[in-house]
Amino acid sequence: MRFDTALLAETDPSVYRIDLSERLLSSADKRRAEYVAGRLCARQALHDLTHEAVALGQTAAGPPAWPAGTVGSITHSRGLAAAAVASQTSVAGLGIDAEARIPAARAHRLAPQILVESEREWLATLDSGAASEFVTTAFSLKESLFKALFPLVQRRFYFHDACLVAWDPDHGSAAIELLTTLSSHWPAGRRLAGHIAALDDHLVTLIAAPRPA
Ligand SMILES: CC(C)(COP(=O)(O)OP(=O)(O)OC[C@H]1O[C@@H](n2cnc3c(N)ncnc32)[C@H](O)[C@@H]1OP(=O)(O)O)[C@@H](O)C(=O)NCCC(=O)NCCS
Repeated sequence: MRFDTALLAETDPSVYRIDLSERLLSSADKRRAEYVAGRLCARQALHDLTHEAVALGQTAAGPPAWPAGTVGSITHSRGLAAAAVASQTSVAGLGIDAEARIPAARAHRLAPQILVESEREWLATLDSGAASEFVTTAFSLKESLFKALFPLVQRRFYFHDACLVAWDPDHGSAAIELLTTLSSHWPAGRRLAGHIAALDDHLVTLIAAPRPA
């Protein structure tokens, strides 16, 4: 969904039948608009999945409280919001993330914070256009990974705890490997497939965490 921050922020959220906590009601326009836009996307996606009007709650730890039997994820960035949902019988967790493309010079500056050594060696082989795409993808996929796994492992982990091991921008595919053991189901070495879509000036990535075999 594309949205206008100023317009969405000034509209009474009850028009959209979305409850805002006291904290959100007093938050900045940008945050309020992003929250509402994300919830609208999630509601539509849940309706498409379940054919029911279901309400989405909020947890203290950050992720939305998805209705029983479903998993999902929300992202928002610069007037763009998106949500992905699935049945819990299909996947254990979902993570979606949208990032505006990071310009090459900034990508190189941010590399030490976002990339591990093998990724930085990979980055050094790329021209500036590919470098921007690579760092944006790695950043976004790692955020998607975090959103997919946090509700399952209930612990925070960071950019150096995972590593991009395959990247095929022409086909919108990638693979990411855990470098740290997060739980018995999510040990170091575990690889997950990632999906990448280009949307104007944004990249949108998605990770679906498979159910245990
Ligand atoms: C939580 C985090 C991933 C959100 O990403 P972001 O790019 O800042 O923001 P986005 O708009 O894409 O996503 C925000 C949405 O993520 C969801 N979210 C927040 N915390 C979450 C969590 N712990 N787990 C899953 N989803 C979460 C929420 O739906 C939130 O939107 P809402 O509050 O309006 O409902 C990010 O702030 C963060 O903490 N990153 C550090 C951890 C990390 O990425 N590690 C990399 C591991 S390899």
